[in-house]
Amino acid sequence: MNGTSSTGSTRNGTSSTNYRETYERSITDPAGFWGEAAKGLDWFSPPGRVLDRDREPFYRWFPDGVLNVCHNALDRHVEAGAGDRAALIYDSPVTGSVRTYTYRELRDEVARFAGALKNLGVECGDRVVVYMPMVPEAAIAMLACARLGAVHSVVFGGFAAHELAVRIDDAKPAVVVAASCGIEVSRVVPYKPLLDAAIEESAHKPRHCVIFQRPQCPADLVEGRDLTWDDAVAGAEPAECVPVAATDPLYILYTSGTTGRPKGVVRDSGGYAVALHWSMSNIFDTGPGEVMFTASDVGWVVGHSYIVYAPLLAGATTVLYEGKPVGTPDAGAFWRVAAQHRVRTLFTAPTAFRAIKKEDPQGTRIADHDLSNLRHLFLAGERLDPETYAWAGERLGVPVIDNWWQTETGWPIAANPRGLEPLPTKPGSPSVPVPGFDVRVVDSAGNDVPAGADGAIVIRLPLPPGCLPTLWGDDERFVASYLSAFPGHYLTGDGGRFDADGYLYVMGRTDDIINVAGHRLSTGAMEEVLAAHPAVAECAVIGVADGLKGQVPRGFVVLKAGIDAVPDTVAAELVAMVRDRIGPVAALRQVDVVPALPKTRSGKILRRTMRGIADGAAEPVPSTIDDPAVLDALRPVLRPGS
Ligand code: COA
Ligand code: AMP
Repeated sequence: MNGTSSTGSTRNGTSSTNYRETYERSITDPAGFWGEAAKGLDWFSPPGRVLDRDREPFYRWFPDGVLNVCHNALDRHVEAGAGDRAALIYDSPVTGSVRTYTYRELRDEVARFAGALKNLGVECGDRVVVYMPMVPEAAIAMLACARLGAVHSVVFGGFAAHELAVRIDDAKPAVVVAASCGIEVSRVVPYKPLLDAAIEESAHKPRHCVIFQRPQCPADLVEGRDLTWDDAVAGAEPAECVPVAATDPLYILYTSGTTGRPKGVVRDSGGYAVALHWSMSNIFDTGPGEVMFTASDVGWVVGHSYIVYAPLLAGATTVLYEGKPVGTPDAGAFWRVAAQHRVRTLFTAPTAFRAIKKEDPQGTRIADHDLSNLRHLFLAGERLDPETYAWAGERLGVPVIDNWWQTETGWPIAANPRGLEPLPTKPGSPSVPVPGFDVRVVDSAGNDVPAGADGAIVIRLPLPPGCLPTLWGDDERFVASYLSAFPGHYLTGDGGRFDADGYLYVMGRTDDIINVAGHRLSTGAMEEVLAAHPAVAECAVIGVADGLKGQVPRGFVVLKAGIDAVPDTVAAELVAMVRDRIGPVAALRQVDVVPALPKTRSGKILRRTMRGIADGAAEPVPSTIDDPAVLDALRPVLRPGS
């Protein structure tokens, strides 16, 4: 064990026994607990009821509360006299610019863009798709939607046109807000052609597209449909905050499921705001005027919650960083940003640290910067391997806080509650369940397993505020995906165990989702692309361990009999198809053409066994295997030298 002692009091004035007591109260009296937390926000109409259990398993938080999330993130602080405090610092090594927005400036920009959206006919409840890189306009567009009660759906820039089209068809946006391009380390990525192709493919057509023109690659506009950001805001009247029901959706964020059809995770307004606000002081230990640097992307849930909403709800300063951990310009980039902006709380994915460590194994660049303001490093998005945990802690000299969560939950399920009570940390564990999350590890019959034993990680309902109330337009899929395996519980899809001290260990997904450089991807979606190739008879995609990205996908295909195709050519075409159809972020670089795939006697491909062999595990031959010779023949392909 390492880290902080569990004695003493925190700067919140809470005593050392606080985690356990707080946790117990959150589970035994969720309404009392979250009702109190809700008082930290401004409400047009404060909630009379905290938890609506009338439509189980569809629980709703603050059913009669009325608020506006943008008001709480911006206007509230300006009205309280903090208008001159820095709200957002845009730091962009790829364009060589740094710009600070005070709370007043950000409120004014957001109000004006909300006015522009209003001029385009956007109303409360309408959807707006945002397809933008890490520029302040992305956050401004999100907050402008929140201001109007419109529902944003941000699509990560690394996705291809088809993925964008699928999301447009599901969310049916009135307007799309996009940038003309994104800037990667070695290339400019034009976004507009991808947007045009997506709208061409989608059945739903947005009325308008607002294009933020960037000088690196200005876009051509479609007459009558497109207008520039500048033209949209020119002359727009600032829009006021619209009162919305706490249960109204704030956003939809699509995430990978086990098939090619992404899941539209719905986030409500009131529950989310209350949960994030609570998390800033109790987990992230970051308050008004303190600086949080979350190096992620607004296209992911970590970006939604801890680049945009949570720091602003707390009155803190958020750093929006358009760059990478390495290459912009070097492995000292994070330390430069942290020093320059006096960052207290750094939050990123372990893969970013592995990338830094690869380029600067001794962490020598850290010494070039004054990191005296840094108090903690939070890491999430994938399993934190003990080596990266140790390296980061030793080099930075601050506690390294692993925290486990999902797009669906919106905020951490397990973490070390730094503001509530700093607990000792243990390598390999994101520490303990966060108050509100009744986490259980169960066997296949749904019975709790003893400490130390592995099982499926589930959360007893109701989920706390902030978590998904449903999937967009699809209550049935919500229930089928998450609530039907273990009635009364939410299935996380992760497996793991508790230790005797109540620390949770999250060992990995039990389904076909993989995690590549902190990005969640579906092997099922990649298989759908491979299977569409005319020469492919059958295929499998598995995630294999990778020293930098945590996991990378590998594809295996069997060609149709009698097809005269060159295996290497097919493999190259398949790699290109996945990049073209899903996007560069899928990072599928290796496809092997093989004579057959190992299967059970009932015809199920033995993906887990294949993955185990590729990762070098002593994988037993399953008793259900149809033909062991097929597996034996595949071993040297899966793991050369085996
Ligand atoms: N727009 C367009 N393309 C993008 C993109 C974006 N927003 N983000 C990534 N891509 C592209 C990359 O350029 C790369 O393209 P390439 O195949 O032509 O090189 C491809 O998608 C894969 O990107 P990535 O997996 O990010 O790999 P990388 O080698 O570019 O960078 C890391 C590796 C570790 C530096 C990078 O993944 C990183 O910083 N990760 C942090 C993790 C993170 O933010 N996770 C979010 C959850 S916390
Ligand atoms: P996403 O929805 O993109 O946030 O991905 C969620 C998935 O990432 C989880 O279901 C886990 O499999 C994985 N994950 C996220 N954080 C952690 C963590 N701290 N430890 C282990 N796995 C994690």
